[in-house]
Amino acid sequence: MRTLIINTLILLSVFILSENCFANSQTQKQEKEKPIAEIRNENGKFTIYVDGKPFLLLGAQLWNSSAWAEYLPKIWPQLKELNCNTLEAPVYWQDIESEEGKFNFENLDSLIYGARKNGLKLTVLWFGSYKNGSMEYTPAWIRENQEQYPRMLNAAGEPVYVLSAISRNTIEADKNAFVEMMKHIREVDSAERTVIMVQPENEPGSLQTDRDYSEAANKLYFGNVPDELTKGLNKTSGTWDEVFGIEAAEAFNAYYIARFINEIAAAGKEVYPVPMYINVWTKENYFWRPGEYPSGGPTSNMIDIWKIAAPEMFTLALDIYHQNYIDFKELCKKYKRADNPLFLPEMGNGINFARYQFYALGDFDAIGIAPYGIDPFYIDPRENRTKQVLDSKFHPMAENYKMFGKISGKIMELQGTGNLKAAVEEHGLGEKLFHFDNYDLLLQFGFPNRDKKGQITGRVLIGQLSNDEFLIAGFDAKFVFRPKYKSGFSKAEYVLAEEGYYKNGEWHTQRLWNGDALYHSVLPPEGAVLRIKLKRIASSDKLQVAPNFEK
Ligand code: DGJ
Repeated sequence: MRTLIINTLILLSVFILSENCFANSQTQKQEKEKPIAEIRNENGKFTIYVDGKPFLLLGAQLWNSSAWAEYLPKIWPQLKELNCNTLEAPVYWQDIESEEGKFNFENLDSLIYGARKNGLKLTVLWFGSYKNGSMEYTPAWIRENQEQYPRMLNAAGEPVYVLSAISRNTIEADKNAFVEMMKHIREVDSAERTVIMVQPENEPGSLQTDRDYSEAANKLYFGNVPDELTKGLNKTSGTWDEVFGIEAAEAFNAYYIARFINEIAAAGKEVYPVPMYINVWTKENYFWRPGEYPSGGPTSNMIDIWKIAAPEMFTLALDIYHQNYIDFKELCKKYKRADNPLFLPEMGNGINFARYQFYALGDFDAIGIAPYGIDPFYIDPRENRTKQVLDSKFHPMAENYKMFGKISGKIMELQGTGNLKAAVEEHGLGEKLFHFDNYDLLLQFGFPNRDKKGQITGRVLIGQLSNDEFLIAGFDAKFVFRPKYKSGFSKAEYVLAEEGYYKNGEWHTQRLWNGDALYHSVLPPEGAVLRIKLKRIASSDKLQVAPNFEK
């Protein structure tokens, strides 16, 4: 009898234990399940959420022909050196479906597993029907069958190297491949969520012609502009020429290409709904007419059309290679809109673009930035192909990313509040003065006179944390605080100047600045993040008051 009782008790506890384990593992599984990446618009402020948390995308894009399994092992160390958190890499239609209907995702898997292993997130760039205003990455079976997959015709009726955006066959073929790719991503990644975004197509539009002049396209072109467009744009209906005048050909191309891309994106999202965006080859300053830049892409004059025809894109993203900071800022201004957060998935490299990243984050609330061609030695035979270190062109950005990583939460928190600013050194711009609520802040560059080899390197983000507290993060700049003019105070005293970083939202102090450090108050070439607390001192110091204003 005793043994029976003991056995029953043992059985009972094993049952209870296993039940508990099952319940626990279920909860753990639920807890562990990572949410898919998403873009949230909270009171007009856009944020990328990754693994359920705000994420500042500090990216790097591969050179066009580098996303191959055999090449990637040499690239991971360089990405680590760059301190980036996201890799942007192409998936080539001609690779995944080299034979019609047969799919091979070996290279995509290397990207996903490799990124995951290296602690990176991944943005997939779909090189499908459109790549830089042409059809460079389409499979041979698409290129060789012009009957079924027609090209756009130019005004002389000659086919160009661009697929027609109105061909149902092409849309279906591209969509089919894209959806297969999204299914594969869902299959291999929905537990880990390494893939956070997809860019369906790359710099779409048509080079060599301002629009498609095929018979089918002409028929549409000489008809009326579709209602959704005229209504959406608040224009009276009419033909393309009547409604859009000199921009008619471009607007026509934009509408049909945007619809093409929207259709494949919608189908892809049905399978796996990661955020999708499209990037632009800009028209500004170098190109005279559509066709010299991809006509019908999301260029600044076509943004409104794209917004109507491609609502699946969370943003029209800016590829930006303009070396001149005025051009850079002008373009950022055009692409940062209430309906379009600024995202720079491609930018140039070197110290200029390292400085411009500060404008993007500080003045234009960019949600992501990424230099292009992180592994350029693969294409340039003069370079040592065995080299696995980051090219020196990217070193200033590696320093930036290290610093942005320390304050990314704060950057995102301050963006859109008016309390984040950028101070950037430019030729002929040696100072920048800010007026905050209680203080004026002057940033001076080129001090002390270091040997910077003629380079201008000063770049700072300034965040007002409270009326008397500031975050200053940057390189090569001197800072000077004064109480706001006419505020009745004559001096700004440092209560505390802490150098450090944020980790999981908590500030961590590495050292306090005082003595010579504060006397000079210069951010060093390797950069520093400071949290500064000030106090205003009242005095009757008349020198602070301009004589003309004395009562
Ligand atoms: C912009 C394109 O989107 C990239 O794929 C690449 O071709 C660069 N231009 C090259 O500068």
